Amino acid sequence: MELSRRTVIAGAAAAGVTAAMSGTAHATGGHKPVKSLFGKLADGTKIYSWSLENGGTRLKVLSYGGIVQSLEIPDRHGRCTNVSLGFDNIEDYVSSSPYFGALIGRYGNRIGKGRFTLDGKAYQLSVNDGENSLHGGSKGFDKVVWDIEPFTKGSDVGLYLHYTSVDGEMGYPGTLKTKVTYTLTRSGDWRIDYEATTDKATVVNLTSHVYWNLAGESSGTIYDHELSIAASRYTPVDSGLIPTGELAKVAGTPFDFRRTKTVGEDIRVAHQQLLYGKGIDHNWVLDKGSTAKPEWVATLRDPSSGRTLKIATTEPGLQFYSGNFLDGTLVGPGGSIYRQGDALCLETQHFPDSPNQPSFPSTTLRPGQTYRTTTVHSFSA
Ligand code: BGC
Repeated sequence: MELSRRTVIAGAAAAGVTAAMSGTAHATGGHKPVKSLFGKLADGTKIYSWSLENGGTRLKVLSYGGIVQSLEIPDRHGRCTNVSLGFDNIEDYVSSSPYFGALIGRYGNRIGKGRFTLDGKAYQLSVNDGENSLHGGSKGFDKVVWDIEPFTKGSDVGLYLHYTSVDGEMGYPGTLKTKVTYTLTRSGDWRIDYEATTDKATVVNLTSHVYWNLAGESSGTIYDHELSIAASRYTPVDSGLIPTGELAKVAGTPFDFRRTKTVGEDIRVAHQQLLYGKGIDHNWVLDKGSTAKPEWVATLRDPSSGRTLKIATTEPGLQFYSGNFLDGTLVGPGGSIYRQGDALCLETQHFPDSPNQPSFPSTTLRPGQTYRTTTVHSFSA
């Protein structure tokens, strides 16, 4: 399979046919995901890496945090590189990861003061970001071990990831049974389906925290990447990055990505919101709202390699984080240090702090309901 995929690329390049002309990644069949030992936690728990490949996309996923440890896609000449920041060892993921590639739960982004009230009952969550709760608390879904089961279905290959969060974990009510499906399709798309059920009323907001750099994980900043986001409004924040509740227009602000512009174009504008975030760290209110089927919401392109990522989602929000807190203290698998702006995250989600913001789309999940959201990442060059 590996050989035939490379042969297709080499043949296409020789014939002067580029991936850009085909418009999608190289279509070849996938093969069964392969499991290998990645490392061990301090208590001896074995952490496995699962390797998947389909349609020119190669994905490596860890049982720790459901982490995307590596995601390789071809450039316009068919050259594959890893476009997702990460580490080459489990110790760094455990001790110092800023959520590199991880599954995020039970609640993506912040809940103010880690508190909310549901059906008249007050809950106190684990607080791990100043006075707030971030990405599910001190031991969120990014730091738990997931049960992973591989599958092949027609021309798709993928992984089912299961995790049951017990009632009261990190302060959240209800036993939450979570299933996340990572699928690589024959055209190389990476699709994520999230599902969850609960036995008590609770709040849920699951997402994925891949740090993208389409030129390669150790290639410098993403300021030249071109981005568009189909959103006319965003949610401004206070100095603790908690939404004020306002849905502000992007028109006339650095947050206007309705027409394609580079990430760097307005990132140094002296706008109060950029000062609060040390760059961009905001939720966009997607014009399409919540949808039953994934709809296109954002396109990211690296002009140097031609690599393009298109995101479609059922979710109403998109957190665009421009890697502001990367500070040169972490070393990636390629041996380079990561500095501010070396990657960006595009996290499809419900809005931050929704449990405390009655005007935001609800994140409440009740017994008998099934939480279901889908996000599709399509690659081309
Ligand atoms: C948040 C940032 C946070 C980062 C953690 C993002 O989703 O919006 O504020 O620092 O995750 O790496």
